[in-house]
Amino acid sequence: MKTYFLLATLLLATTHVLAQKGDDSVIALHTSHTSMIFSVAADSCLYFEYYGDRIEDCTPFAHKQTYRRSDYGTDALAYPAAGGRFFNEPALAAVYPDGDLNTELKYTGHTDSLSADGNMKQTTISLADLKQGLHVSLIFKAYSREDVFTASALIRNLNKKDVRLTRFYSSYLPVKANSYYLNTFYGAWAQEMCMEQSKLTHGIKSVESKKGVRTTHTENPSFMLSLDAPLQEEAGRVIAGALAWSGNYKLNFQVDEFNLLGISAGINPFASDYSLRRNQCLATPEMVYTYSSRGAGQATRNLHDYARNYVVYDAQTIRPTLLNSWEGAYFDFNEEVIRKMIDDAAEIGLEMFVLDDGWFGNKYPRDNSKQGLGDWQTNRTKLPNGIKSLADYATQKGLKFGLWIEPEMVNPRSELAEQHPDWIVKAQGRNIPTIRGQWLLDLSNPQVQDFIVNTFCRIMDETPNIAYIKWDANRHAESIGSDFLPADRQSHFWIDYTNGLYEVYRRIRARYPDLIMQACSSGGGRVDLGVLKYHQEVWTSDNTDALSRVFIQYGTNMIYPAVVTGSHVSATPNHQTGNQTSLKFRFDVAMGGRLGMELQPQSLSPSERDFARQAIAQYKTLVRPLVMQGDLYRLLSPYDDHGFCVYMYAAKDKASAVVYAYCLKYQGRTHFPQFRLSGLSPEKRYRVKEINTVGNKSVYWGNGQVFSGQYLMNEGLNLRLTQCCSSAVFHIEEVR
Ligand code: DGJ
Repeated sequence: MKTYFLLATLLLATTHVLAQKGDDSVIALHTSHTSMIFSVAADSCLYFEYYGDRIEDCTPFAHKQTYRRSDYGTDALAYPAAGGRFFNEPALAAVYPDGDLNTELKYTGHTDSLSADGNMKQTTISLADLKQGLHVSLIFKAYSREDVFTASALIRNLNKKDVRLTRFYSSYLPVKANSYYLNTFYGAWAQEMCMEQSKLTHGIKSVESKKGVRTTHTENPSFMLSLDAPLQEEAGRVIAGALAWSGNYKLNFQVDEFNLLGISAGINPFASDYSLRRNQCLATPEMVYTYSSRGAGQATRNLHDYARNYVVYDAQTIRPTLLNSWEGAYFDFNEEVIRKMIDDAAEIGLEMFVLDDGWFGNKYPRDNSKQGLGDWQTNRTKLPNGIKSLADYATQKGLKFGLWIEPEMVNPRSELAEQHPDWIVKAQGRNIPTIRGQWLLDLSNPQVQDFIVNTFCRIMDETPNIAYIKWDANRHAESIGSDFLPADRQSHFWIDYTNGLYEVYRRIRARYPDLIMQACSSGGGRVDLGVLKYHQEVWTSDNTDALSRVFIQYGTNMIYPAVVTGSHVSATPNHQTGNQTSLKFRFDVAMGGRLGMELQPQSLSPSERDFARQAIAQYKTLVRPLVMQGDLYRLLSPYDDHGFCVYMYAAKDKASAVVYAYCLKYQGRTHFPQFRLSGLSPEKRYRVKEINTVGNKSVYWGNGQVFSGQYLMNEGLNLRLTQCCSSAVFHIEEVR
């Protein structure tokens, strides 16, 4: 947050008034390698002209012809509004006090401003419907080094009366190609971020959430669009996008009769009409785009750099490895059990212990998921000496201490529900359905926001050495209604809830800037660039099975960097899938993110403990800096038929890398993985060393040898890896 504030105050603004009516003018935005271009036509409409590789001379866009007939109602407007001549899915729609349903936005000027370090240029283009007094500022930010543009809209009502908005997308992006291959991420609880590619046909495809709270279980507000050919890693034109919003969203992909694709993206208008009083604004979230003419790999690297440099809270700080109590103890623990887990975590070299669900509630002890949620007082039976004594114990052992909370929720069987029925999300006169035995608190209500902030601060202040909070949210919103919002503003609930959550985060962050916060949401339920402004990491999925995690992490890291993806070694057979895998495979997969463990360490045999100790030590010294801050190169996709998954992270200076290779099915005696490395320097020489080996046995004939970057990037590695769920991790280091 601090950075944003600093940036905002250092912006140097210049104003242009380009278009007198009748002028044709071009507004060109650039990053290092890409351009986004708009034009203002004689009718003062703002048109979208181009997004792709950088074009220096943009003057032809002032008089370029498209041969489209504008009375078809499909013109490539930069921010099309419903009404007038536009008939595709509009970016904006409003109902005015006099019943007028039309909005005609005309260009009124634009301003540019440059960030202090010169990397980000903001261009704000002003549009207005002068008849009705609705003003829209389109805000574009061009991040030069990252080749990322963000787009958002600020909608202001200057009409004397209330204006009701029924569509308010952040951005509209027209794209021209002969064919479009859309890659999106779908799934469910414990199966998140599965990749799916479809060739777009005429009409609309939408990716959306209408559930609030757990917004990313079914689909994720992000995509990779490949132009003219299916998605490839290192070739082809790709536009990738991600929305920074943790509530209902909708991304529409509409191919029209001219074969032009219109992408409208932003907050989902579903049941969300938003009324603005005079002078009131609605600020839409940022839609983030990157363009790559070198395939999906470069698009991912751009998004990762952008997320790490501008979005993820405190992205540069090294994340501690940890032991989480959930799958090792669930609700069934006492002080002795937890102290022993802390002892074990310290003994195997982990850096933090996190006490999960089950530590609170006295009238209704939290011994299962059915009660106690909302009553944030330490359970005196389980933990008679309080949380502080456990945190102090961890500190004595050299560990940081973390705690689980789920502050947006309440069990019906809780003191909180008894005291504040008015804080519960519900439709008056209707049944209040539970999910996982719990109800949702109404974050559109400032009193509820205060309650959450005050509870959070009290917990933190009682135990000042809490270094980490796991913020869970185990249900979505349904059957909604707010006791706080007036009857004519009930449809504001979805947007006000998310803004209420962000307000809570802002207040907490102002007070605890150094606290590590994980966004959990049942695992995988809130994985978006909005939540990551306040959180260092997400709990990637409740599915801790290593085989499933190969797919979940591969999908998640298409868009989000590994510095945010918590990944834990758990017990075998796995509690979700029943799969049995070796401890080595589980470590090799968990090392692809922020490594942790989530099992009862007492269940490990002495040799497994030794393996864990060594793997954790190697992760901390050799792997962690690369996976957290390096460039991701995907070498073999688990989605292809060959049954392997191989990827690597290379240091920015190309002096070191880590390579992960997983065999996902039995390959007989004939199929061995062969892959060429990427992201190294052809001139440098590198030692290739397999780590995490069991009994020093390597699957690579050249283990420990030195190779040229040229060899590694052309001939590559071939491994003896053929059994299902076998794996290898290599550390590669420049030899000078
Ligand atoms: C869901 C989370 O994803 C789990 O990791 C665990 O924290 C449970 N909730 C606790 O109730």
